[in-house]
Amino acid sequence: MPQPPMPVEPFRIKTVESIRRPSRAAREKALRQAGFNIFAIPAEKVFIDLLTDSGTSAMSDRQWAGLLTGDESYAGARSFYRFEAAVKRVFGFKHVIPTHQGRAAERILFETLVKKGDAVPNNIHFDTTQANIEVRGGRAVNLAAAAAYNPDLDAPFKGDMDTAKLDAFIRRTGVRRVPLAMLTVTNNSGGGQPVSLANIRETSGVLRRHRVPFFFDACRFAENAYFIKQREPGCGRMSLLAIARAMFACADGATMSAKKDALVNIGGFVTLNDDALAERLRNALIVGEGFPTYGGLAGRDLEAMAQGLEEVLDEEYLAYRTDQVAYLRALLEEKGVPSVKPAGGHAVYVLADRFLPHIPRHRYPGWALSVALYREAGIRVVEIGGVMFGKKDPRTGREVYPPLEMVRLAIPRRVYTVSHLHAVADAFGRIAEAKETIRGLRIVYQAPHLRHFTARLEEV
Ligand code: F0G
Repeated sequence: MPQPPMPVEPFRIKTVESIRRPSRAAREKALRQAGFNIFAIPAEKVFIDLLTDSGTSAMSDRQWAGLLTGDESYAGARSFYRFEAAVKRVFGFKHVIPTHQGRAAERILFETLVKKGDAVPNNIHFDTTQANIEVRGGRAVNLAAAAAYNPDLDAPFKGDMDTAKLDAFIRRTGVRRVPLAMLTVTNNSGGGQPVSLANIRETSGVLRRHRVPFFFDACRFAENAYFIKQREPGCGRMSLLAIARAMFACADGATMSAKKDALVNIGGFVTLNDDALAERLRNALIVGEGFPTYGGLAGRDLEAMAQGLEEVLDEEYLAYRTDQVAYLRALLEEKGVPSVKPAGGHAVYVLADRFLPHIPRHRYPGWALSVALYREAGIRVVEIGGVMFGKKDPRTGREVYPPLEMVRLAIPRRVYTVSHLHAVADAFGRIAEAKETIRGLRIVYQAPHLRHFTARLEEV
């Protein structure tokens, strides 16, 4: 196995935040108090936090400087115009509507377009797009190509849409029932895998033929653009900005959680070309988020987003960013820890049921691994498996599990160094040596929806 290059951080550190590893006894106590649910552990008691890459980025000196120059006028703030120009430069759409985060952008878009009985295809929906469609009485339909579901296949673009399926789906459902279609870049729920420019163009072709509006869920568009440059024939000489523009030129608009690839701690937006739809979205925005030139954010937040969008397409940064994830994946492989191939753009997805074959699915091996990592080293990860997605079959009363039982190690942007990654891999190494001692769990309390956030469990 050739090692990927050791990523060298293309920044130096001038502000630091201390982190502490609580003692073993303190970790044990925290686990018990949290009902063996690491969502309930206070962040102060976490040493290395890989729960999410969302809103956890370190801002640059220039972004922090922007906080001081932010214009806090209610209407028409200077910071809005700078933000609008930054979004237009990268995305190229006519209208830019700020929101407080990604799901608020999704809410105003779906509230306006989706009616009961409608269907919205995507490669794979993220939970919040799915939920925002379902609360309107719509159906969120996943049409990713088969590769997305094969964790062992090392292919360059496992986020691709199955365009033949998409075409057949629209014909079968009827265009009237498909108010829009989406592509999530990178495909978070499918391992953080990218979508190729060729596939974006094909998807666009199908949707244009049927006159179905095409929106990106663009949270990690920069990481996707970098993978296109690295992996797609004919794209190696394009600038990352040109690739991003080529991606967005295929679509009618995008929703964005700026908490990912705009390198900020809060923020989002919708951007689109259609004048009439933009007006309806602005009206929805005013009711729930704020005036259209701030959308639920402070002027300083708009400054930070504008600056983040100017920084994120830097090639050295994206090389380091994606190498960092690939490097962690390789370290884990050396320790005998199986994970989805290839590494995603923002996270490593460990195959927990393969790593802990002695724990049956109904004892939640992914959850057990998340507990073991906290217990061993104060590391926090998120289970994406039976607790998050297990559903009771209404006929048999038995729980049905998702095809993959994983834990996601999401890497915050510009926050942890290579030595932190080694600390994570070393913790896995120690766990691997005594993995038969890890116990499964049983759920003792669960909420009716999204149970993973608040469930309480005990070890069996
Ligand atoms: N779309 C995708 C693909 C996402 O990954 C997320 C958030 C959202 C939309 C919603 O954005 O959080 O700003 O409202 N993903 C985070 C994660 C929470 O941990 O993957 P938001």
